[in-house]
Amino acid sequence: MRRARVVLVGAHGHGKWHRANIARLAEQGEAELVGVCDPVEVSGTPWSADLGELIERVDPDVVLIATPIHTHVDLALTALRAGRAVLLEKPPAPTLGEFERLRAGVDETGVPCQVGFQSLGSSAVDAVRDVIASGQIGEIHGIGGAGTWIRTIGYYDRAPWAGRRRLGDVPVVDGALTNPFAHMVATALALTDGTVTGTVPELFRAYPIESDDTAAIRIVTAHGVPVTLAVTLCATHHRTPTIVVHGNRGRVTLHYTEDVVEVTTADAVHHRRYDRVDLLTDLIEHLHAPGDLRVPLASTAGFTQVLDAVRRAPDPRPIPAEYYRETGTGPDTRREVLGVDDAVLAAAETLRTFTEQGVPWATGR
Ligand SMILES: NC(=O)c1ccc[n+]([C@@H]2O[C@H](COP(=O)([O-])OP(=O)(O)OC[C@H]3O[C@@H](n4cnc5c(N)ncnc54)[C@H](O)[C@@H]3O)[C@@H](O)[C@H]2O)c1
Repeated sequence: MRRARVVLVGAHGHGKWHRANIARLAEQGEAELVGVCDPVEVSGTPWSADLGELIERVDPDVVLIATPIHTHVDLALTALRAGRAVLLEKPPAPTLGEFERLRAGVDETGVPCQVGFQSLGSSAVDAVRDVIASGQIGEIHGIGGAGTWIRTIGYYDRAPWAGRRRLGDVPVVDGALTNPFAHMVATALALTDGTVTGTVPELFRAYPIESDDTAAIRIVTAHGVPVTLAVTLCATHHRTPTIVVHGNRGRVTLHYTEDVVEVTTADAVHHRRYDRVDLLTDLIEHLHAPGDLRVPLASTAGFTQVLDAVRRAPDPRPIPAEYYRETGTGPDTRREVLGVDDAVLAAAETLRTFTEQGVPWATGR
């Protein structure tokens, strides 16, 4: 079986992680990097700033796209129309309309397109689904999510699109919920039937940016179980994010970045770490022996509805200076919203958003 020939589009940001991953697969004889497409040249590998030209020149099997969100759809369509399988970083598209344009391209060409929600490659997600289906934790009355991370101003200064809701007329939607914590949204939805029927976003910002750095959202899904997620990049303590499924006889906590599942019932607490399938490996295996992709584009429609609701929501409300503490200098400048960790953790426990909890910087009272 020949090694999958991979072109990487977007090499210098998160693309560096993909370069290391492709190198790992190359050592195993599964893949090889045959070209890089990026406006900034990469030495040692065939390079072009023009994806169409590079595809013709190096004949890849897979095009892996790790570029800014607003460039995803055109690049993915270029690859699909050239008949090349695509691994597309999340979020797949910056609007629901753009998502539909891409979905039409996938349907039209019949070429596989996987989205890089790597947490959905984890058997931990299957394990949580199994616990829910088994009835072990009883009837499910809600799903919560808590994300407390720390980012400095350097995170937003790294690229012109970082922290932007739009660039000119072009939607970007680089907010905490839709980008750094996008995996939380997609993974929580993967525990429901995935059909989003309503959303209530609450967007805030402590940093001098356009998008949210602190946000909560209630998502209503077709199967009726409410999902309340709360996240911040202005935390006091950095924690692994969690998704909690609340049942009337117990709960399951999924640490989706660690593949760890904790099941708590009246009798016991079970804790287990699961394996994860690499999404590039999964796509390559699909090319050799077509079966179901782990994260096909169509499965990210619910996530994209949430993203689109965030895009259409009013601009985030600035958190007044009295509610945050600023420390550090230059790119290490950090804003910490006072009490935000507790509010985020409480949202996952009580399924109440920031305004429902009466958090002062959220209610303006
Ligand atoms: N799955 C994950 O855990 C994860 C983590 C971080 C970022 N990401 C995703 O990866 C993508 C890139 O994010 P980033 O933070 O690395 O961005 P970045 O702006 O830091 O880097 C983007 C790269 O793409 C290149 N680029 C820009 N426009 C291009 C174009 N039209 N054609 C080819 N190359 C182009 C840039 O030169 C740069 O090398 C985003 O979709 C982001 O959400 C995913």
